Amino acid sequence: MVGRLVIVTGGESGIGAACAQAFGAERARVAVYYHSDKDGADRTADAVVRAGGEAMTVQADVDDEASVDHAFTTVEQRWGVADVLVNSAGLNMSGVTVREMTLAQWQRLLDTDLTGAFLTSRRFLNGRGDRTGDAAILHISSIHAYAVRAGGADYCAAKGGLSNLVETLAIEEAPRGIRVNAIEPGMILTPMNAKAQEDPVYRRTLEQNIPMGRAGHASEVADLAVFLASDQARYITGARIVIDGGLSLMQALGA
Ligand SMILES: NC(=O)c1ccc[n+]([C@@H]2O[C@H](COP(=O)([O-])OP(=O)(O)OC[C@H]3O[C@@H](n4cnc5c(N)ncnc54)[C@H](O)[C@@H]3O)[C@@H](O)[C@H]2O)c1
Repeated sequence: MVGRLVIVTGGESGIGAACAQAFGAERARVAVYYHSDKDGADRTADAVVRAGGEAMTVQADVDDEASVDHAFTTVEQRWGVADVLVNSAGLNMSGVTVREMTLAQWQRLLDTDLTGAFLTSRRFLNGRGDRTGDAAILHISSIHAYAVRAGGADYCAAKGGLSNLVETLAIEEAPRGIRVNAIEPGMILTPMNAKAQEDPVYRRTLEQNIPMGRAGHASEVADLAVFLASDQARYITGARIVIDGGLSLMQALGA
């Protein structure tokens, strides 16, 4: 991974920030894409450099085609063509039922969590042109790609669609040596789970549903991302790998 060029979307916080740092520890060059929190992106970049890598920060709105193109062009002009894309940018479920959901909410979630994956993947691939040789795309999906929740139609539909995007990309790009995989986390302690981080009683209540008895850490997801992007995972493509302490296995219990 030394010197490999890794792009991480949603790099200013949570799983994206942890992935950036973990690739930094592998001495990669990491482009930290951020949405609006420049300070957060700068903190991530500092962590990448402290870990042993190189870092740059780039503003990118993943659901905006021109913004994605500009961000990739900025990286290409400074560092060249990317080897790895980790797409961690995403919004959480609205928590409202379909009856109550506005079209704007539905579209906002689909635009970010699904169209964003399409736009960043496409620009990554077009940036590589006809190059062959190992490259990897990782999308941070969710166990809710298949384990649905009431109040999560927007998120579950986006992550479910992401599964098919990942699998389609995997067969399209395999001949060029580009592997495409999804990581499906369960409950991870990030700003997306702010209430669980701030309220220990609430957190314990949720953690009782997890066979391993605890929520996961962003660094644990990052370790998986580094593995999947590495040569050790050279024969893995089109996979959707669950990292949830057993949570999704509990679906059928209780009734
Ligand atoms: N935390 C969990 O429990 C959990 C579980 C399963 C899946 N995930 C997935 O992991 C990914 C990362 O989430 P997280 O937990 O690190 O939360 P997070 O809120 O810390 O990170 C999400 C990031 O996405 C960025 N983002 C949002 N909209 C964007 C846009 N339009 N363009 C660019 N960036 C945008 C945010 O700025 C933020 O940095 C998400 O895709 C999420 O669905 C998280």
